[in-house]
Amino acid sequence: MVEAIHNSETKNFKILSLPAEHFEIEKTIYQDISRKYRYVMCERDELTFDRLKRNIKKQKAKYFVGKTPSLYFGSIADIILNANKGEYSHLILDYCGQIGTFHEELRHTFRNDIIEVGGTLSLTFNKRITPGPSTLFCNTIDKLNTYQIPKGQDNGKTMRVIKTFINREGGYKYDIENIFEYLDNNDGAKKGAAMVLVVVRRIK
Ligand SMILES: C[S@@+](CC[C@H](N)C(=O)[O-])C[C@H]1O[C@@H](n2cnc3c(N)ncnc32)[C@H](O)[C@@H]1O
Repeated sequence: MVEAIHNSETKNFKILSLPAEHFEIEKTIYQDISRKYRYVMCERDELTFDRLKRNIKKQKAKYFVGKTPSLYFGSIADIILNANKGEYSHLILDYCGQIGTFHEELRHTFRNDIIEVGGTLSLTFNKRITPGPSTLFCNTIDKLNTYQIPKGQDNGKTMRVIKTFINREGGYKYDIENIFEYLDNNDGAKKGAAMVLVVVRRIK
């Protein structure tokens, strides 16, 4: 995702992200890629938000010189639903949750082109589909998958669902630039959770 951002030609230099308390991705972008970006950072968990606020205050002189991030406590959907066309250069949606829980704001992102041309959407999510709203969403999208990625040639329902969803919602304007699977063992578990990272670019 960082490389995709590095390879972008954008004008606004504005990023919307889910940094959690340690904003690791944002630090990497600042140190390795570019200091030009301004951030809108969003967090819905109160404790994490408080820690984020404290860490930003302590480290803004190191990582955000002249560009103190705007912090928003609440769901990132609130920001996305109110964003203007082309407002953000990049969206870094490091949700790590299940696709079915955030598809509404993704649909809005594609339909309203809130990312500027040349910018990217990076998305991380869990491969698991557990019973609930996520299942209904995934089953519906999977049924639309009539024209591509035959079952058996793809490695699982979640991968079919995300590709089908992006192709249908993004149409000809969005290109899946990178998609890969990884294991997340941040919580110290021996066998990490199966996750997916998708990088999509707005090409026109
Ligand atoms: C995987 S962590 C992000 C890690 C971070 N990108 C980093 O590099 O250190 C995801 C964070 O986003 C928050 N989050 C998940 N979904 C959200 C949503 N819809 N709105 C706001 N915050 C959300 C979670 O509470 C969590 O703190």
